Amino acid sequence: MTLEVRPDRHLMVREAMEEDLLAVMNINRICLPENYTYGFFETVLRSYPKSFLVAEVDKNIAGYIMCRVERIFSKFQRFKICKAGHVISIAVLPEYRRMGIASLLMKNAMKVLREVYDCSEVFLEVRISNNPAITLYEKLGFVKVDRIKQYYIDGEDAYLMAKELAYSK
Ligand code: ACO
Ligand code: ZN
Repeated sequence: MTLEVRPDRHLMVREAMEEDLLAVMNINRICLPENYTYGFFETVLRSYPKSFLVAEVDKNIAGYIMCRVERIFSKFQRFKICKAGHVISIAVLPEYRRMGIASLLMKNAMKVLREVYDCSEVFLEVRISNNPAITLYEKLGFVKVDRIKQYYIDGEDAYLMAKELAYSK
């Protein structure tokens, strides 16, 4: 499966490698209050390597997305159990934002979740105040399916957002 890239912007999306994890952790710390141990990133990478992606601009890692696969009750069909991709975390360094990098990471990860990991849905949690991210997800076809009270340690609520994945090969 080939990933979609933007050669016009020297933008390349590829699968992450263990050598990238320190750069990924650094981006995570700069961009988000939800941080994880090296071991957590490593476990996600080893478990779901095809949907852990990094975006490189002129060989610099500008952003990442990491996902895992879960069996859940469908957010769209009542009482149906399905395989769903869970976007654990996505971030793009401030100096590389509004270039379409997060959109490209999301589109490629959703393609992998559908075609490689056989997921019929994708979901994520996002802070209710995070308008940039909510706008990004809505543009990609996600809808708010729930609001989780005090999801974050500082007490903020999360929107649970989800999207059905259409099979396209
Ligand atoms: N304000 C309003 N809309 C925005 C903004 C913003 N600051 N940023 C993105 N969008 C919307 C726009 O509609 C944009 O399209 P446009 O530029 O044509 O108007 C669209 O999203 C796509 O934007 P991208 O360029 O693809 O997004 P970007 O590469 O800038 O990354 C991201 C967006 C990941 C939210 C970035 O701002 C970031 O890293 N933020 C901090 C970390 C974060 O919040 N991550 C998500 C947490 S939730 C989770 O991880 C599951
Ligand atoms: Zn989550």
